[in-house]
Amino acid sequence: VSVDTTARGVDRSAAEVSRAPRHVAITGASSGMGGALAKLYAAPGRTLSLAGRNAERLAAVAEACRSRGATVDTAAVEVTDARLMDDWLERRDDSLPIDMVFANAGIGGAGVMSGPRGESGDVARHVFMVNTIGVVNAVTPLLPRMIERRRGHLVLMGSIAGAIGLPHSPAYSASKAAVRMYGDGIRRMVRHHGVRVTNVLPGFVDTPMGESLEMHRPFLWTAEQAAEKIARDVARGAAQCIFPWPLRVSTALQAFVPVPIADLVLSLAYRWRR
Ligand SMILES: NC(=O)c1ccc[n+]([C@@H]2O[C@H](COP(=O)([O-])OP(=O)(O)OC[C@H]3O[C@@H](n4cnc5c(N)ncnc54)[C@H](OP(=O)(O)O)[C@@H]3O)[C@@H](O)[C@H]2O)c1
Repeated sequence: VSVDTTARGVDRSAAEVSRAPRHVAITGASSGMGGALAKLYAAPGRTLSLAGRNAERLAAVAEACRSRGATVDTAAVEVTDARLMDDWLERRDDSLPIDMVFANAGIGGAGVMSGPRGESGDVARHVFMVNTIGVVNAVTPLLPRMIERRRGHLVLMGSIAGAIGLPHSPAYSASKAAVRMYGDGIRRMVRHHGVRVTNVLPGFVDTPMGESLEMHRPFLWTAEQAAEKIARDVARGAAQCIFPWPLRVSTALQAFVPVPIADLVLSLAYRWRR
């Protein structure tokens, strides 16, 4: 995907902001899809504000982005800490208005899979904190500013797992379902304010999180493929970015499957997994 970096003016349309953001903020930029998005958006004339926790990996991503000509600022921010997130995003927005935020940081993979006795309460609560509250913390500091400016694009990282109640990790599925509903609601709330919202629902992507799942991952995409698809859909202002298409179709069809049948199929899939 080629990301246009020419739009510099303040009075840019929503379409220009989505196609050619001047300032992009990304949570979870130290790894996987966040890192791939950072490198994809890195270009001369563009500022990137990158957050993660692992300083070494974040610095490596930042260096790669600088070598592509971007101006980069990094911050070690825990997404569950609302105060830290407010401070980081407001400080970065004061330095140059943020056009686009990727609320991408999340946890998943082997660490959140349910065991023979179910999910531990601590793990389930932590999954909601990072995957759902972490997204809320990335959106709420910027939303009033974007509404006032009448421009901005929020990109929320959900998952196809959020469209199905997976027995493998009910809390993960629910945390991502909440992100999807949150994004849908905000998009409808800000529709007439020039602010765009894209919900991203990936299938399996080959990142450290994905790799930890010791199971067959059908239609696996690389992080770079995923980042390109996301950037393309974001550039055209799509409400939803769901990939790969076979999982998109099966997720859509699932809505027509009677619950007892879905329960039977998914419970058997879960049983045979172990
Ligand atoms: N991989 C898949 O198959 C897949 C599929 C669907 C959706 N997703 C979603 O895509 C997003 C990115 O995942 P990924 O696959 O790229 O995984 P990843 O390579 O493990 O990257 C996760 C990123 O989130 C950051 N992060 C995690 N917990 C954090 C916290 N408490 N505070 C701040 N940052 C935190 C990590 O930072 P540090 O490493 O610096 O701690 C890392 O940069 C997640 O929301 C995930 O749920 C992934």
